[in-house]
Formats: sequence, C-alpha cells, structure tokens
Amino acid sequence: MLKIDKNNLPQHIAIIMDGNGRWAKQHAMGRIRGHKKGAQAVRTAVTACREIGISYLTLFAFSSENWGRPNEEINALMSLLGDYLDKEASTLQKQEIMLTTIGNIERLYPPVKEKLLEVKKLTEHNRKMVLNLALSYGSRDEIIFAIKKMITDNRSGKLDIDDIDNDTVGRYLYTNNIPDPDLLIRTSDEYRISNFLLWQLAYTELYFTDVLWPDFKKDDLLKAIAVYQRRERRFGLTSEQIQNK
Ligand code: FPP
Repeated sequence: MLKIDKNNLPQHIAIIMDGNGRWAKQHAMGRIRGHKKGAQAVRTAVTACREIGISYLTLFAFSSENWGRPNEEINALMSLLGDYLDKEASTLQKQEIMLTTIGNIERLYPPVKEKLLEVKKLTEHNRKMVLNLALSYGSRDEIIFAIKKMITDNRSGKLDIDDIDNDTVGRYLYTNNIPDPDLLIRTSDEYRISNFLLWQLAYTELYFTDVLWPDFKKDDLLKAIAVYQRRERRFGLTSEQIQNK
C-alpha cells in the first residue's frame, strides 16, 4: 500500500465520478450495470476516506444536466441512490459519518428525497467525517441562487453591499459550513470541471486519472493524495513567501 503523510492530508476531497457508462461498454454490459458498479465504488471510497482520516468528501452523484438523460437511466440512478441510503445508513452511523447534500434535492424522486432527509437527520451529530452528496447539483444554478438571495437580503436590510466579500458569498452557497476542497479528483481521462463547485475550486489542486470510476480503489485514492502532497500550494504567492511562512 502506498505511503502518504498523515500530517499533510487534504481536509476536503471532491470527486467527479466519471466513466460508469464506458466501464459498462468495456464489459459488454448496459449503462445501468456500470452505475451499479459505480455505487459499489462509492462505498469503497467513503470507507477509504474515513480510514485515511479525510474530514470532508464531496461526491458528484447527479448533476442538474443529468436530468436530460434517458428516463430509464434516471430511474436507475434514483433507485441506486435509494438503495445506497437504505443499505448504508447504519454503516454511516457506525462510522460516525454525517451525511449532507448540495443541490436542488426538491427535484429528486419523492421517496429518495424522504430517505435522504431521514439519513441526514439520523447522522447529523456525527463528527468523524462529512459525506456530502452533490445531487441535482449545478454550480451555475448554485451561484444564481446565491445572488438572488443576496439581493433579497439586501432589499430587506439584512445585507449591506459593502459587506459582501469572499466569505459572504461562501455563506450564500450550498456549501456554507464546508471548507473549499483541497483536492479534486476526476476519473475516466476527462479533463473538465463540468459545472462542479466553480466558486469553491478557486485554489483546489486538480488530479485527473484514466481509471474509470467503477474501478477506482483505495490505492487510486492514495495515489491521488500522494500527488497532492508533492504539490506546492501557493495561493497566488511566491514559492519563497510560502516557504518562509
Ligand atoms: C458518470 O458516469 C456518473 C454519473 C452520471 C452518476 C454517478 C453515480 C454513481 C456513481 C452511482 C450512484 C451514486 C450513489 C451516491 C450511490 P457516466 O454515466 O457519465 O459515464 P460515461 O461518461 O462513461 O458514459
């Protein structure tokens, strides 16, 4: 197993889980079998992050654009999500993981939404890790929603324009209370952000791998963390300034 430095872990890892469809094709199966296998990879990644000591894991599970996929595929993804919540609630509780979501969960199928609310309530006091699922999520929608809310609060006297800074905008986003990701992983050899956490990724380290999501294992995660640990995060400063800090 790959060695990583436990003193320099990314606090927050975000993952664009891509490649379920191509995995299925490679194995001469339908796309839905790929998503099933992808759901297993979710379990592996959550457990691995918990074991490693990651504090926040955000998974891009369903984008606002995914509503445009064939109905059969949407139904299968909703049902996989429901199954995941049914089967994993007790494990999340045992591992002291809090479940949170970002995105417009009002659009999810009602039984899935109900289960989500249940598991979020059940796990709300857990403090060992946060599993944050991006569901019916689109970053531009999130930003528009935040702007509208800021304007409303400004009109009602709750928000002064002069007080708007980075932190204020952060508080109006779905990810309020969640630190920005330190490391973004995208699987399946695609090099895009795909409307994911556009504001929050400003200084995130990006890591791309050709491993397809259903094949993504703990070792792949360790490899990504090891690469992250070799990077110098400068946040716009010079290398010398960072080293003298
Ligand atoms: C991208 O692969 C993946 C998705 C759109 C859905 C992700 C869903 C899961 C991993 C399973 C269910 C989730 C949970 C949390 C239980 P793609 O279909 O775009 O793959 P392709 O680009 O190869 O076609």
